[in-house]
Amino acid sequence: MKKTIILLACTGLFAYACGNGSAETPTDGSTPSSMVADQPADDGKGVGEIKEVALNNPLDEAMVARGLGIYDLKCSACHKLTDQRVVGPGWKGVTERRKPEWIMNMTTNVDMMLDKDPAAQKLLEECLVRMPNQNMSLADARDVLEFMYSNDAK
Ligand code: HEC
Repeated sequence: MKKTIILLACTGLFAYACGNGSAETPTDGSTPSSMVADQPADDGKGVGEIKEVALNNPLDEAMVARGLGIYDLKCSACHKLTDQRVVGPGWKGVTERRKPEWIMNMTTNVDMMLDKDPAAQKLLEECLVRMPNQNMSLADARDVLEFMYSNDAK
């Protein structure tokens, strides 16, 4: 079982190779804007398309239930719901450690997060396994986030 997981994680490494390498090089000899402007201070929201997440209070139980289903299928092999680490960190307290935007970026954009986000890189150093891309839609990622809040509320 462990072996399969590690194999899976390795294929994730290769799948990454073709990223979004569209570096614009200005023809006038100036520094590409991507090299100067693209490094804003770390706001804890991670790297990716999710900039703002509106939270539900109280939690949306239908989303929690869908999130649990997705967790069972796609995440539970590596993540426990306690604070115990298996392959990846346990999820207990994750909604207190991380901003919701960070969690959703990590779920939907893991390759870029592991390459660019300091907190994700620190986790990689601890876990030594690259979390594979789970091909999660934004809606699925949002359901799993709701489930994480529900897990932390208990
Ligand atoms: C093959 C194992 C594996 C699977 C499957 C997996 N992850 Fe991960 N996950 C990891 C590892 C390992 C890390 C730590 C970062 C690293 O080393 O890449 C991590 C880190 C995370 C973190 C950050 C946790 C923290 O404490 O900050 C989140 C959030 C996360 N994963 C969400 C998910 C979701 C959502 C799914 C299912 C859709 C999932 N992961 C499936 C291995 C996995």
